[in-house]
Amino acid sequence: MTLINVKVAKIKREAEGVHSFLLAKTGLFKFPKYAPGAHIDVHCGEGIIRQYSLCGDPEDRRHLMVAVKHEERSRGGSELMHTKVEVGQRLEIGSPRNNFHLDEAASYAILLAAGIGITPIIAMADRLYKLGIPFELQYFSRAETHTAFRKRLVSGDYAQNVTFHEGLDPAQTGDALDHILSAPKRGGQVYMCGPGVFMEAAESRALKHWPSDAVKLERFAANPAFAGLPTSKFTIELARSGIALEVGKDETILDVLEANDINAAFSCEQGVCGTCVTDIIEGKAEHRDSFLSEKERARGDKLCLCVSRAKGERLVIDI
Ligand code: FES
Repeated sequence: MTLINVKVAKIKREAEGVHSFLLAKTGLFKFPKYAPGAHIDVHCGEGIIRQYSLCGDPEDRRHLMVAVKHEERSRGGSELMHTKVEVGQRLEIGSPRNNFHLDEAASYAILLAAGIGITPIIAMADRLYKLGIPFELQYFSRAETHTAFRKRLVSGDYAQNVTFHEGLDPAQTGDALDHILSAPKRGGQVYMCGPGVFMEAAESRALKHWPSDAVKLERFAANPAFAGLPTSKFTIELARSGIALEVGKDETILDVLEANDINAAFSCEQGVCGTCVTDIIEGKAEHRDSFLSEKERARGDKLCLCVSRAKGERLVIDI
């Protein structure tokens, strides 16, 4: 994938533990166009690549904005972004990609954000407002001090569409979600982004009332529903070379490819970014990603190498 060189133009504290980073293009060309919901790979340093949703103004083709929460249990990316990255520093990023598409033909949208999940959601709210599509933004956070972009939302053009849910406990959050999601609107859509626990609560409630194709979500970490599921060994066959390799019960397909010096693109290693999606030639996959849609899973012709496995003893993939 082609990398883009950027310079950090501005770092701003948006809430407790949340900084936004305004990235400026170097050179003459403009950034590619992108739609709300898009994210970029940011090469944070020390070989660590993380995906961050774009939350700035898509019309500004000289800048991109991301916001990063300093995770207490950082896998390295947010720690580097918060402690090492400075204004003026050069970074490499990937082109914007989008797995979280906004339906601009919808008649109504409910936008649900929790914590740093506000980043793709605020970009969607900006766009919906611009298009004149009615929407509501329901934003859940631990406390007012943890509500990123609060000022932008409170004083912005669509302040009346925003409801803040600050400091709720899990039961109160569940009650609020029940209230928000219990009256589906014809032609409406529900979009959600937030930490795993919130997503479980919001998705299950949304699917009780809304058709599944009206519920769209973006995860930024592995789906906890797959954690601890039993695994067994299987064989992958690489269709282009005929090489067969065993994937042990504690390994991923990606681990085995890497161990055998076979190149495969990857990024998040959590089944959320889609970089490692590969065609299946033969066999069935047991999908453990959060990237492929239900339709794509039902077609059965692709899988995410970083987390998904074979259903059965053998899988032939297009590598
Ligand atoms: S590397 Fe991101 S989905 Fe597999």
